[in-house]
Amino acid sequence: MSGATIIDGKAFAAGLRARIAEAVPAFSKATGRVPGLAVVLVGDDAASAVYVASKGKATVAAGMASFEHRLPADTKQEELIALVRQLNADESVDGILVQLPLPKHLDEQAVVDAISPDKDVDGLTPISTGRLALGLPGLVPCTPLGSLMLLKDHIGDLSGKDAIVIGRSILVGKPMAQLLLAENCTVTIAHSRTRDLKARVQQADIVVAAVGRAEMVKGDWLKPGAVVIDVGINRLDPAKGETKGRLVGDVDYASALELASAITPVPGGVGPMTIACLLRNTLVAAHRRAGLADPEGL
Ligand code: GUN
Repeated sequence: MSGATIIDGKAFAAGLRARIAEAVPAFSKATGRVPGLAVVLVGDDAASAVYVASKGKATVAAGMASFEHRLPADTKQEELIALVRQLNADESVDGILVQLPLPKHLDEQAVVDAISPDKDVDGLTPISTGRLALGLPGLVPCTPLGSLMLLKDHIGDLSGKDAIVIGRSILVGKPMAQLLLAENCTVTIAHSRTRDLKARVQQADIVVAAVGRAEMVKGDWLKPGAVVIDVGINRLDPAKGETKGRLVGDVDYASALELASAITPVPGGVGPMTIACLLRNTLVAAHRRAGLADPEGL
């Protein structure tokens, strides 16, 4: 019997999306338009197409405008950059997201760099990254922002907590570490070359797993009472006898329940927070671009 709380990201995200939808009419009254999000998908990666479709649906459901741009897999770098520039100049667009990964022949960093920082709802441009590191207001990547919201909702003040972030990606690990540092946590960033990961995880009050390796973090690595945020979404291989390609996180959920005080499930934990935070960032970007104060409670 475990006493771990299951952190319901799906419910939290639904509440956040509802608060966003409630804030849209005031923005429209002040500006005469609705916030707009442009999503760019290059190529026909099946998983990316599913993500992009659900982003578009959620955007419309929140009362915002969704602009979807689907480009063929052989799109040239100049063509993609030209589209990003066109979106930068489009007054009806408040947020621009170029779905990653891009096909191999395209330079991801150069494409991201072309996005106007004012519209960088993914928080990936060097300006956004730099502002986060400096502790200045800006736009923060959606998955770490959503993870932090869940942590603060569950724990309250994070000040002085020992946190470990496993993974150092631009999209999750690095910004997550910055956000936890800004909340006065003592932060360890672990990665593939980290020695004795288990011993380091055992010290942590907060464990954020974002490595992309199925069930890598075992329950007996945890300090009793640790709060676990599992960012991983891994599909187990049905060819290896796994039923229906089951989705699992980076944490071995069943064993983690034994020692954790709280944990996010996969699916239904961090995943739903990503899109909700994308809508949040779009609404915030729209307010800032219009010279309005940030919407409250988001
Ligand atoms: N691919 C997977 N996650 C993301 C994300 O958060 N943003 C972008 N742009 N691409 C992704």
